[in-house]
Amino acid sequence: MIKIEKGQKVLVKLKVNGKLYEEYTESRKLLSDFIREDLGLTGTHVGCEHGVCGACTVLVNGRAVRSCLMLAIQADGTEVNTIEGLASEEGWHPLQEEFSKCHALQCGFCTPGILMSAVEFLETNRNPTEEEIKEMLSGHICRCTGYHGIVKAIRQAADRIKNTVNKVN
Ligand code: FES
Ligand code: FES
Repeated sequence: MIKIEKGQKVLVKLKVNGKLYEEYTESRKLLSDFIREDLGLTGTHVGCEHGVCGACTVLVNGRAVRSCLMLAIQADGTEVNTIEGLASEEGWHPLQEEFSKCHALQCGFCTPGILMSAVEFLETNRNPTEEEIKEMLSGHICRCTGYHGIVKAIRQAADRIKNTVNKVN
């Protein structure tokens, strides 16, 4: 086992939104702080820092994780996706568009985390029921919206993604 001295910085190499980063950072730095402070990607929000609110959710190797519960050095060698990488050259992701149309956000604090969880969710469930969407959202706290618009937006985005996939196939 490698011994890391207190205060010693450790090299972390990872891809974030397709771009390779090689950064020295404190061994005890949380992935959420690393993303925000070291990489300057402040779209990932930090609320509770205890894995409860879901605001800090990002994708690590395609899986939704709470970046406040993971050390940056544990993400070494992984591919991370954050909210900054969700839109493409063609425009917003269907989830982003439907959130806008359905008024699924107010202050927006919870939104990046919910969107990243929803991306993973719709990868594994192309045709979710309202109950399944609510179950997925149970890991996210929104103080503003009452969730109705969020559920509707995810349901509508699921239909759009499904139709796009069907057209391609
Ligand atoms: S800040 Fe990570 S779950 Fe709340
Ligand atoms: S939109 Fe404000 S916390 Fe969700």
